[in-house]
Amino acid sequence: MTDALPDPLIALRPWEAPEVTSWGRLPMNAVDRRAGAVSLDGDWRFQLLPAPDAPVGEGWSSAYVPGVWTMQGTDDLPRYLNVRMPFAQFPPAVPAADPTGVYERAVDVPAEWAGRRIVLQVGAAESVLLVHVDGLPVGISKDSHLAAEFDLSGVVRPGERTTVRLTVVKWSDASHIEDQDQWWHGGITRSVLLYATDPLYLADVTVRARRDGDLRVDCLVRDSGGALPEGWYVSGELDGQLLTQDAEFDRANAEDERVSGFLGEARLRAAVPDVRTWTAETPELYGLTVRLHRADGTVADRSHHRIGFRDVEITGRDLLVNGERVFIRGVNRHDFHPLTGRTVSYDDMRADLVLLKRFGFNAIRTAHYPNDPALYDLADELGFYVVDEADIESHDHAHEIADDPRYLGAFVDRVARMVLRDKNHPSVIIWSLGNESDYGANHDAAAGWVRRHDPTRPVQYEGAAKRGWADPGLASDIACPMYAPLQDCLAHAMSGTQTKPLIQCEYSHAMGNSNGTLADHWAAIEATPGLQGGFIWEFWDHGILQRVNDGRPAGRGGAGLYGNGVAAPGHRWAYGGDFGETDHDGAFIADGVVFPDRTPKPVMFEHREIAAPVRIECFRHEGVVLSNHQHFRGLDWLSGEWQLALADGGTLTAPAELPDLRPGETAAVPLPFELPEDGGEAWLTLRVTTSRDEPWAPRGTVVCLPQVRLRHASPVKHAPVTHRAVEVDEDGLLIHPLLTAGPTLSLWRAPTDNDELGGMAARWRDWGLDALTRKVVAVRREPGRVAVVADHLGPGGAVRHEQVFTAVEGGLLVEECAELPETLDDVARVGSVFETVAGLNLLEWFGQGPWESYPDRGAGAPVGHHSLPVDELFTPYLRPQESGGRHGVRRFTLSAPDATGLAVRLDRPRQVSVTRHRAADLASAAHHDELVSRAGCVVHIDAAHRGLGTASCGPDTFASYLVPAGVHRWSWTLRVL
Ligand code: GAL
Ligand code: MG
Repeated sequence: MTDALPDPLIALRPWEAPEVTSWGRLPMNAVDRRAGAVSLDGDWRFQLLPAPDAPVGEGWSSAYVPGVWTMQGTDDLPRYLNVRMPFAQFPPAVPAADPTGVYERAVDVPAEWAGRRIVLQVGAAESVLLVHVDGLPVGISKDSHLAAEFDLSGVVRPGERTTVRLTVVKWSDASHIEDQDQWWHGGITRSVLLYATDPLYLADVTVRARRDGDLRVDCLVRDSGGALPEGWYVSGELDGQLLTQDAEFDRANAEDERVSGFLGEARLRAAVPDVRTWTAETPELYGLTVRLHRADGTVADRSHHRIGFRDVEITGRDLLVNGERVFIRGVNRHDFHPLTGRTVSYDDMRADLVLLKRFGFNAIRTAHYPNDPALYDLADELGFYVVDEADIESHDHAHEIADDPRYLGAFVDRVARMVLRDKNHPSVIIWSLGNESDYGANHDAAAGWVRRHDPTRPVQYEGAAKRGWADPGLASDIACPMYAPLQDCLAHAMSGTQTKPLIQCEYSHAMGNSNGTLADHWAAIEATPGLQGGFIWEFWDHGILQRVNDGRPAGRGGAGLYGNGVAAPGHRWAYGGDFGETDHDGAFIADGVVFPDRTPKPVMFEHREIAAPVRIECFRHEGVVLSNHQHFRGLDWLSGEWQLALADGGTLTAPAELPDLRPGETAAVPLPFELPEDGGEAWLTLRVTTSRDEPWAPRGTVVCLPQVRLRHASPVKHAPVTHRAVEVDEDGLLIHPLLTAGPTLSLWRAPTDNDELGGMAARWRDWGLDALTRKVVAVRREPGRVAVVADHLGPGGAVRHEQVFTAVEGGLLVEECAELPETLDDVARVGSVFETVAGLNLLEWFGQGPWESYPDRGAGAPVGHHSLPVDELFTPYLRPQESGGRHGVRRFTLSAPDATGLAVRLDRPRQVSVTRHRAADLASAAHHDELVSRAGCVVHIDAAHRGLGTASCGPDTFASYLVPAGVHRWSWTLRVL
């Protein structure tokens, strides 16, 4: 760069010019150039300037590409804000202090590229990219999650070394439309590469492959010399079958005098017999190769695609894939990694999708921007329906921007570039115009472009439904609300006014211990025409691995410093506020169905069962009625095993023969066992696994565990014994050799994120539930029996609690009763809590499990005999909160390695939790690493436990899962092993 002339890329200040979406950038296209390219990934010289117009100094450090500098040792650290912009300026302005990364490196341009067209591709950079080569201005790009390509043919000399400088400006006019709920970073987030083509090249390839086998491939041909050479033509091949030129298309063009010779368009066709159609259940792909020939037949360029034959359409209020009304079992997914922030590898993405597949998901919304290109290849291959979303979210200034003509070009540009890149993926079934940007003319303009360019897919945009779901606006073919209460969805579906499919773009907010009522939602969705599913918010907990000592992101060096959802000692999962920000949105960034290391949270098991492809419909005299709940496949890819769990016996198993069922069919199969006379309550489970290796799961992977109860429990009779004394201390508290505290009344839990953000926790604190004063009212001692009456007092009123301890054969019967005044109409729990001596480290139980479950999130935890070490019962939610509960527990033992310990039998299935933490311990910690485990166990037995709901962002649990005021009774027996 010379000192004499100002650099035009800087002088124009493109970072405050929304009209400038790019300069010198090549049009987006669907030709994959990754093969044969020279990778420029690796360490680049780097310096971080305080502003884009600050002078570039002499002092270089280095930065890894792809990667954000906010995770690579600079003082510009990650920052989390949900809606609010991180600066006060109104669009399109930005603050003067605007971190700008300058990346530079030498590139040896291969000598054999002489005479070829040379292109630089920057995979993604946020938020403005300025490109210089050997000091010359080459181009500008915005749109942080799509690649930018620049033709360097006239700038670089093959066989020589050249210097590429990529300047990345963090805050820009574009930041105002990239205000998604995630960490703010800066840098180059996807790979950089250099490739070469013949001057005559394929500029784009557009594939239309229908479920009847009709294939159409439109090719766009260009020559860097301008005019196309005489005699070029294209050919194509689909898994060995040759495509034909569409003579009709050529003739029409030739005869149309408006079409110039420069057009450079050609169309190939094929009719594929007996086509294997693509669906998320049957992701059948074909290999398509398109070749561009010179007049002499030699190949100038080629492009390879994996394509799928399928149709997407909306008929009435149904979204159909290949004519079937499919359920959308979706999740919202960001490109996220705890070490890199945004950069994800192919292996990372594959692991994400494999996990989703194993847990029954069939759809992904690429919230809230086009994801890494490899994600779509994987979705095609593994089988997912994708809602592809453009990088537009102007949440903080939504209303100003939606109709601002200065941003018109950016809206259309972002949507169009996404469509141009991803149009050939069978997985992409819907285009989304973006997220939370109000609704304005800019959206309609973008929707118009898509409808013209790609009439084969619906368009959606949540914000367009200004006049209600019956009229989701010009810009949306789908009513796709977020966090709509289930009763509203049902009312809409039954109103007679529904015009469009109702598929929630976000629902069931997975923050902390959450996703209550998911099974209720799905029961309603499956039973109600017009409802087709939705996308859970979201896949990831975006915790960044952080060193506790210096507060820095661990970065790429942190590989391996985590596991099972937990950061290694000396580290933690950072959320908003942990990098010293004063303005932030805290743990709202940790709202995924997986931990930052991709460890599944318990909700995943709930989802897996809700999505079960094979179900037990009922148990009749003749046997068990099974059904196939898929849309396109039989059951031949599955194997089964019957398991009969007897409450007072063991578990019997027998191989299961799955019937040959087409989608939607049912059949009765004989009961595989003689039900033994004794053994008490009996549950039959069909353990369904993959019968062969699938691309996403080895043979034998559990797919679902449907079950049915064969016999109820019979009431237990207790025989009191008067000769054994029951002892309580002067406070009326039980004296027992294995208990160090309690049992006493508990009405409180460590607030979940839902409890906090939904306002329940505040009410509980107002009522004093976290610190009630216990006052003994009466203690009555009889032979073999003690009754204790205590009042629990707080600002919310007095709760009377009665306990009767009776010596019975083999142990102690505890009968309890609590009476909650009318004011306490929504408490966290009513139950007993006690603590045990150290050393009881194994929990074995008969009830739901083995994973964590709650009253409104227990559909996926089968009843059976389960056992886990106490330390593994707890779920390490990023912000400590109520955790580790097990629903429907009938009895349990807590034992030491020498088999001593205690056994508890409950009067009926109850919520139980056994952890190393008191509720108060959990409530006072902000991060998991602050928790100190107690040596003994903290045991809760709940007569009633409040559902989890999703009130951190959306509806609370249903009334039926609340703990009401009034009288609660429960009883249990305690036995020493
Ligand atoms: C939605 C939004 C998401 C996220 C979520 C809450 O409103 O679209 O980006 O903020 O709420 O976690
Ligand atoms: Mg938002």
